[in-house]
Amino acid sequence: MDNLKINEYRDLINNSLSDIYTSGPESLTKPIDYVLKGGGKRLRPILTLITAESCGAKVKASLPAALSVEILHNFTLVHDDIMDEDDVRHNQPTVHEKWDVGVAILTGDAMLSIALKMLQKMNPNSLEAMAVFVEGLLAVCEGQALDKEFESDNFVTIDQYIKMIDLKTGYLLGLSAELGALVADVDKQIRIALRDFARLIGRAFQVQDDMLEIFSDSQNMGKSLKSDIILEKKTYLMIQAKSKFPKEIESAIEIAKNDFTDGIQIIRKLMLETGIKQDAEKFIENTINQANSCLMNLAVDHRNLMCFSDLIMKRNN
Ligand code: IPE
Ligand code: IPE
Ligand code: MG
Ligand code: MG
Repeated sequence: MDNLKINEYRDLINNSLSDIYTSGPESLTKPIDYVLKGGGKRLRPILTLITAESCGAKVKASLPAALSVEILHNFTLVHDDIMDEDDVRHNQPTVHEKWDVGVAILTGDAMLSIALKMLQKMNPNSLEAMAVFVEGLLAVCEGQALDKEFESDNFVTIDQYIKMIDLKTGYLLGLSAELGALVADVDKQIRIALRDFARLIGRAFQVQDDMLEIFSDSQNMGKSLKSDIILEKKTYLMIQAKSKFPKEIESAIEIAKNDFTDGIQIIRKLMLETGIKQDAEKFIENTINQANSCLMNLAVDHRNLMCFSDLIMKRNN
């Protein structure tokens, strides 16, 4: 699978999202249009399309499921930005910044309804799809709850962290693949293997995101990156740093709260010199390999799924 094909899939998704909700009160149509046209990598719906196709279904047949997961994902981002007090997403002001928190809450709620409505168009297995969708939705809420709880907990372990990111991020990637498998109507055992593959990809993806939030910049990522540090999010790298160098990291966080540029420089230097960044990179690589091993001996054409793993592995935004 080459980049051209990925771009073709992304265009298909972008075009289909462009006029998804046009009739309704302006305070809903405008922000929903704003969010859905805001861009985004479209990784989850691309995964749905690739999974369905790898299992022998037509790409077009999996489009409603793919759109449904992307709308769900964007709903979670709108609410996540309120929770994380972030003011930029997709290189533009977040919904609660551009409008207000009330508009952002309702925009998210309406997007969830639109995602569910879209899912009803899925064929076959739409009932089963609804069940896995709802399960995924609750998982995201639980993951987000843990993410918030951990802000004020200084003793979060890596195991607790993994559980939290599996819920807030992994399950949604798992859902994206599982819906693709349901469109293709493959055996349950294959569907579960594909789901588990994608959940592990999601795990790697979130650790990567944690790392990029420290080592990349806001322009490149298209979103504000301060909240992880300011709100003391327990990320893969921060947990390691806190357990190995508690004094140094706490002082750097305090500096960052007053002068972000100065504080983040110190954090970066510490994480590079002590191998914490390198450890995270190793973890990402191992997790992706573990994900790929779910595909072995599976009666599907796994070549494009491996390309998806590769795409995640190499991402820098
Ligand atoms: C952002 O996901 C949320 C996380 C799970 C880290 P993406 O980075 O896939 O978001 P978009 O859709 O491309 O903006
Ligand atoms: C993303 O969490 C997970 C969900 C939105 C459910 P983060 O808060 O870590 O992601 P970003 O950095 O805002 O994209
Ligand atoms: Mg956030
Ligand atoms: Mg968050």
